[in-house]
Amino acid sequence: MEHPFSSLLTLLFSFIFFFTCPCSSSSSRLHPSVAASTFLHRNSTAVSDFRVVNRRTLIQCPDPNPFLQINVNKNSSLLSNEEWVTVTVSGVLLPLENDWIAMISPSNSNTRDCPESKSFYVQTGDISDLPLLCHYPVKALYVSSDPAYLSCEKKECRKYNSNGRCEIRTCSATVAFHVTNIRSDVEFVFFAGGFLTPCILKRTNPFQFSNPNAPLYGHLSSFDSSGTSMRLTWISGDSKPQRVSYGDGKSQISQVSTFSQQDMCSSSLIPSPAKDFGWHDPGYIHTAVMTGLRPSSIFSYKYGSDAVGWSDEIEFRTPPAGGSEELKFLIFGDMGKAPLDDSAEHYIQPGSISVIKAMVEETKNGTVDSIFHIGDISYATGFLVEWEFFLNLISPLASKLSYMTAIGNHERDYAGSGARYQNMDSGGECGVPYETYFPMPTAAKDKPWYAIEQGPVHFTVISTEHDCTQNSEQHQWMTKDMASIDRSKTPWLIFTGHRPMYSSSLGTVDKSFRSVIDPILLANKVDLVLFGHVHNYERTCSISNSQCLAMPEKDENGVDTYDHGNYKAPVHAIVGMAGFSIQGFSPFVADWSLVRITEYGYVRALATRNELMLEFVNSTSRAVIDSFRITKS
Ligand SMILES: *[C@@H]1O[C@H](CO)[C@@H](O)[C@H](O)[C@H]1NC(C)=O
Ligand SMILES: *[C@@H]1O[C@H](CO)[C@@H](O)[C@H](O)[C@H]1NC(C)=O
Ligand SMILES: *[C@@H]1O[C@H](CO)[C@@H](O)[C@H](O)[C@H]1NC(C)=O
Ligand SMILES: *[C@@H]1O[C@H](CO)[C@@H](O)[C@H](O)[C@H]1NC(C)=O
Repeated sequence: MEHPFSSLLTLLFSFIFFFTCPCSSSSSRLHPSVAASTFLHRNSTAVSDFRVVNRRTLIQCPDPNPFLQINVNKNSSLLSNEEWVTVTVSGVLLPLENDWIAMISPSNSNTRDCPESKSFYVQTGDISDLPLLCHYPVKALYVSSDPAYLSCEKKECRKYNSNGRCEIRTCSATVAFHVTNIRSDVEFVFFAGGFLTPCILKRTNPFQFSNPNAPLYGHLSSFDSSGTSMRLTWISGDSKPQRVSYGDGKSQISQVSTFSQQDMCSSSLIPSPAKDFGWHDPGYIHTAVMTGLRPSSIFSYKYGSDAVGWSDEIEFRTPPAGGSEELKFLIFGDMGKAPLDDSAEHYIQPGSISVIKAMVEETKNGTVDSIFHIGDISYATGFLVEWEFFLNLISPLASKLSYMTAIGNHERDYAGSGARYQNMDSGGECGVPYETYFPMPTAAKDKPWYAIEQGPVHFTVISTEHDCTQNSEQHQWMTKDMASIDRSKTPWLIFTGHRPMYSSSLGTVDKSFRSVIDPILLANKVDLVLFGHVHNYERTCSISNSQCLAMPEKDENGVDTYDHGNYKAPVHAIVGMAGFSIQGFSPFVADWSLVRITEYGYVRALATRNELMLEFVNSTSRAVIDSFRITKS
């Protein structure tokens, strides 16, 4: 979804900042301790000098309490690739609701109170209450999430009076952080003053990841429509090529890429978090294409190298070849991620965990062929470490099945960056991390549209965030693509992207986009149009130019059935209900809107040569709460 940015707000915050912070705003002059830490951290993190720009010494609260401690309940100072770390604060004289603990990475980041940061959060669409620090604290949680804290249930007597009565009593609390390997070292910091006026009480020593180069988060996508080539993309702190070994002794060397803070976009008027305090070094992104596979078959792979270590051996399934008989796929938009612990993170999509869990269940028995995530992928929006949180969450799905994506506003948009819509929704990413993490079979950089065939379906995947006006490059491409489909090979044509053409949620449709696209869809007999962006589920009649040209009929099971043997117009469905807070509908509903549901879930689709069957699955109950068929007989 779009969140109009208010420049008034920036002004307001710059104003507050100006009058509360006497410091110079120079970030180029580094404190000596920062300069020193560049060397210190170089070998243990994926190297980048950019992020150290944000590092300065931390500012202590004036607090003379001699008992205060923060401890991590670990015997080792090394962290594994994924673990739960329990952090205990003790010796607290007066537990307060405002006490909180942050996981800071890299250690020694600048965690000064930074009210102007508010505008950085707001412009990405995240309006939740977050720590306003000069460097994004990765994760933060209130100590009171341990219910024993405020009531001081875990107490200790520090001093007895002469009668043996306790004179000084302190309290403690324990909280847990879910920590994944982000390569840069981590420290836990105990703050007073809430998220708005933080000052530091105590910090732990830094913890390093035991293997910052570990190969992680391998995820698959279709390289072409043959079903015999699959692309694997993964992350490591090491820039040297690694390999994927698969099948019976085959292997491919990885291509290595990365992006730097300089590759992020920004504007002098509205600085972006990606180029500033949301930056986190992405390490290196490795990608390799496994060729010589068979379609609709199970193989296994592992990736890495002897130098950095290897992933587990993972079983995966290739999709059916384009033109074959059947395809079962899952499709949804706007999923994002949520923490597994009690933390606040920059941007949380509350439905994502439930939807991912349900899809993992669904794919377990090996009947699903592929997955399509149509825009608003991770919602990292300039807080780059959150891409890796997302990749970690989807790993049980994307490491086993082709995970295809379309670009959304939260991956691409930034004013002045060549995006079609002038807003700040990508937080300064401008599609660079998206394209690096999810390389799709596109023709060129920043032209993220493509076509792919799986089973009896031709998917035309567009970018609603790039120009698609009459005769634009993308417009020409989609016209040509759809006109060239052999419908005897792939009888079904699904047109998909991020922003919808028909929605009953107010203010969500760009009518100029619709008026350009509607005629092409009709001319090419598109069967089904799937979009996200609006965070709910909605299904239309067979529609073109805002007119219902045909209505579905109920089959013997009461399921709405659209007869495309007698084609009139495409059916549109919005499937943006996979994670982002669910959105309501306008009370004024047009007659083309047949079904509207506000619930988290995903769509399961089964295509055979004669029928396309779609089911909206409620991710909480796993029940089907809407279904429809399109037939061709
Ligand atoms: C970093 O690695 C280089 C080469 O491997 C080594 O010479 C250097 O001492 C290391 N620096 C630190 C701070 O460990
Ligand atoms: C740390 O080591 C001690 C002594 O070996 C052991 O009792 C304790 O369980 C260990 N704690 C953790 C968190 O591993
Ligand atoms: C696989 O699981 C799905 C959902 O959990 C279920 O609907 C389907 O019947 C199962 N298929 C088989 C072949 O077990
Ligand atoms: C989805 O499932 C949950 C849990 O059973 C239920 O409370 C909710 O009403 C369902 N939603 C819809 C739209 O049926």
